[in-house]
Amino acid sequence: MEASSLVSPTARRLEGKVAVVTGGSRSIGETTARAFLRHGAKVVIADILDDLAHSLCEEINKPGSFTYVHCDVTNDSDVKNLIDATIAKHGKLDIIFANAGIVSRDGNGKKILTAENEDFKKVMEVNVYGSFLCAKHAARVMIPAKKGSIILMSSVASVVSGDVSHAYLASKHAVVGLTNNLGVELGQYGIRVNCVSPFGIDTPMLRKEFGVEDGEAVREFIDEIGNLKGVGVDGEDVAAAVVYLGSDEGKYVSGLNLVIDGGFSTTNVAIREAVIKMKR
Ligand SMILES: NC(=O)c1ccc[n+]([C@@H]2O[C@H](COP(=O)([O-])OP(=O)(O)OC[C@H]3O[C@@H](n4cnc5c(N)ncnc54)[C@H](O)[C@@H]3O)[C@@H](O)[C@H]2O)c1
Repeated sequence: MEASSLVSPTARRLEGKVAVVTGGSRSIGETTARAFLRHGAKVVIADILDDLAHSLCEEINKPGSFTYVHCDVTNDSDVKNLIDATIAKHGKLDIIFANAGIVSRDGNGKKILTAENEDFKKVMEVNVYGSFLCAKHAARVMIPAKKGSIILMSSVASVVSGDVSHAYLASKHAVVGLTNNLGVELGQYGIRVNCVSPFGIDTPMLRKEFGVEDGEAVREFIDEIGNLKGVGVDGEDVAAAVVYLGSDEGKYVSGLNLVIDGGFSTTNVAIREAVIKMKR
């Protein structure tokens, strides 16, 4: 293999690029925004958690390279302003990671008879409509530039069903469909569209979903139910995938749902459990 084809883990793979990360003030979004910055990108984070975002900007302390714009992704004029502010500051947009998302308010959403209509609409609004608006306004500036990478946030719930709310599962399936259709439309302009689908990552969202506060317990549980044992998964694994999709290393990759689940969705745990039971 030629040396030039090897990817150095320390290389600045996004040098000169401008990236937006929604839901960037904590958890997976924050980790990815930090990774973008490490790789040389100028980063604009967007969120509704203003205090957290301002503290993060202060801590990182790179005012020209790491900035915050308040943006509710379900609000068209907020998203328009986010993209316009990015162009005003940096002159272009190369990458958008539409990461912001929510889960259902409570476990009622897992049962069709108790699922609340308003909760269903809210989850769809943030996860699907929010992704749509981000893609729409990003495309507005990427089409004339004839390049760009749009990365949407889906979930392992796009490839395995059960034990999440109907709203969340439907929303993450919809994100994959949106990814594919956008990729087909925008390919003619040199714009790539992909999504990522992580397994359980210990974040406030997952703790809320499990109804626990103890992060260690969440990580142990994820390892227990996961297929790939003893490795552990966290936001850095998602960030690495998103950096790849945003970088020129992924320059011919479009329409991909990059599943980051250690092979979980390729197995049928029922078979494993049945074999263990049989051997007892
Ligand atoms: N944690 C997991 O296990 C997991 C697994 C698969 C996919 N995901 C997806 O990853 C994404 C990030 O989730 P997380 O686990 O980091 O959760 P999180 O709740 O810690 O972070 C979500 C971020 O999105 C922001 N956000 C929510 N609604 C918003 C809105 N209307 N406008 C702007 N920002 C908004 C929040 O303020 C927060 O900063 C979500 O789309 C989630 O569905 C998470």
